[in-house]
Amino acid sequence: MVQLALRSCFLRPSRLSLRFFSPNMRPLTLDAVNPQLLEVQYAVRGELAIKAELYRDQLKKGDSLPFDKVISSNIGNPQQKGLDQPAITFTRQVAALTEWPALADLAPGVFPADVVARARELYAEIGSIGAYSHSQGVPLIRQSVAKFIEERDGFPAHPDDIFLTAGASAGVSLLINMLITDPTSGILIPIPQYPLYTATLAQHHGRPIPYLLDESSGWSTSIESITAALAAARKDGTVPKALVIINPGNPTGALLDAATMEALVRLCEEHSLVLLADEVYQNNLHAPAAHPFTSFKKVVSQLRSPVPLVSFHSISKGVSGECGRRGGYFELANVPADVRALVYKLVSVGLCPPLAGQIGVDSMVRPPRAGEPSYALWKKETDTIHAALRERTHVMATRLSALPGVSCVESPGALYLFPKIELSAKAVEAARAAGKEPDAFYALALLDETGICVVPGSGFGQKEGEWHYRLTCLCPGVEEYVGKLERFHLGFVKKYE
Ligand SMILES: Cc1ncc(COP(=O)(O)O)c(C=O)c1O
Repeated sequence: MVQLALRSCFLRPSRLSLRFFSPNMRPLTLDAVNPQLLEVQYAVRGELAIKAELYRDQLKKGDSLPFDKVISSNIGNPQQKGLDQPAITFTRQVAALTEWPALADLAPGVFPADVVARARELYAEIGSIGAYSHSQGVPLIRQSVAKFIEERDGFPAHPDDIFLTAGASAGVSLLINMLITDPTSGILIPIPQYPLYTATLAQHHGRPIPYLLDESSGWSTSIESITAALAAARKDGTVPKALVIINPGNPTGALLDAATMEALVRLCEEHSLVLLADEVYQNNLHAPAAHPFTSFKKVVSQLRSPVPLVSFHSISKGVSGECGRRGGYFELANVPADVRALVYKLVSVGLCPPLAGQIGVDSMVRPPRAGEPSYALWKKETDTIHAALRERTHVMATRLSALPGVSCVESPGALYLFPKIELSAKAVEAARAAGKEPDAFYALALLDETGICVVPGSGFGQKEGEWHYRLTCLCPGVEEYVGKLERFHLGFVKKYE
């Protein structure tokens, strides 16, 4: 044993001091870390995604696999390698000039005048983006966000109520952390849900209070389902603190109608719940003229409701798709000054959100306007992105629904489909024998055979005894891609019939 330790010490000198001089030191083991962290699960980057990465490495090394590429349909990451959503030129030009202001003079005539003017305006406010900013976010950018909200909703918004964040995730995590006062605190979460919510609740030792969305009516949200969940939770000793609504939904893409939104606000009033409105897909609608997005801020303002509301938005989705820049914001409404000051104290511990993300937020809420030099290209690029998503969603939903044992709600928004799959008793048995949930078994077989990586429905939650998977509608070559899904499904059904 000593021999072995000595040998490895010579090989790796940094271990020498540890092994030699602290022989009694206890190693770091999982039972020495916060036990809540062991409860955290995040299927979007779970077993399937890890296996997909291994396959990708194997393909890079030249190994022979049944497919020649891995297709990442597991995550709404529009600019990911292998997908075809380009960055918006205006956004990247402003980013380039705020990164390196000298570029405008070094490359005269390259950048449109409105880009140069925007970058100069931001530079005058921020200075170098290598410096920390105001913890709540650059004041000028918060003003732009407030203006964007006012124009969207027709009601006042104030920069002091806006907190810029490193993506919506950072804001959600902060709010859940604040609202969980003890392990009986619960938060109403839609099922299926985006697993950020259950993961964050697990981390902060809170309880999810699941309420079911109704697939048979286009994944609608019902007040009855939420009141039933509230009653069950109270019986269980859970204290409901907040209601999470994801609108448009993830993984469902469903869009709430005005009557449901009003009823949800009234329900929050009745049960003293904070309303957490996750609206990161507000600009991902496939038929916005017929089914426009309405924010909860607008509904709460129209109703003059006192419900405390936190609305989240992000640069990761929409047409911006800038996931890696980590930018977003949340707006507080009906939140008293002392609670807002507490939020400020907490964000100030993290110093500030990334400046690149904050500048991304500015470009999202202040895109070029008609008549400005960048407008025509911006319009062309954003129209193309919307059209591709609409077309892919339609083709995929139609063809998947035509498969035996598959039904798929054609989502009106967001980036995903969540088809339901009927699995035979033989397939369920094979899954159990392999120690897998049946939908995970199906998804693993899909990955092994086609290289397509999706997320099993069990990662989002679903009705007992039902199986789904979530896939994104971002992949190019939709004909070839859906063809692979179809062939796999028919083969799987035959194998386990
Ligand atoms: C519903 C929902 N909320 C929040 C997020 C987090 O986004 P980000 O932290 O990248 O802004 C996502 C990401 O997929 C999402 O789908």
